[in-house]
Amino acid sequence: MKTLVCKGCGHIEFNEAPEKCLVCRSPKTAYEEKSDAIQKPANPAALTEGDKKHIPQIVVVKECGLIPGGCCTDVHARVGEIEHVMQDKHYIRCLDYYVDYKFISRVWLSPNVCHPAAALHLNVKGGTVTVIENCNVHGNWMAEAKL
Ligand SMILES: [Fe+2]
Repeated sequence: MKTLVCKGCGHIEFNEAPEKCLVCRSPKTAYEEKSDAIQKPANPAALTEGDKKHIPQIVVVKECGLIPGGCCTDVHARVGEIEHVMQDKHYIRCLDYYVDYKFISRVWLSPNVCHPAAALHLNVKGGTVTVIENCNVHGNWMAEAKL
């Protein structure tokens, strides 16, 4: 799977660039392939404290309290297993959500006020949800879950 990064804003798309960046409206030509755009733990079997502070944790809830009737799938994400700091100089800037590797939404977070977490209510029954978080110091980190 190709990882494409927008030179205008750093937004990540998978496999194919959109006509215009869905975050900053830069043209398709602003996207370039960057295989190292997403950070990975050096050893997935032995995560460091830094890994645990950055890899998103995803919780999928099939019963939604806000939109009843069984048609809503809640996707909660927090960064990370050890809660990341949200201070002026070091914080999680945003969480990008994807379904089946297509970008669907970005949630912006502010330091001090927000926890490093967000939730979306999806009208989707199955597939793969991907969350990419951007730390202003440590870059992009990704996690996935089945819906
Ligand atoms: Fe960080």
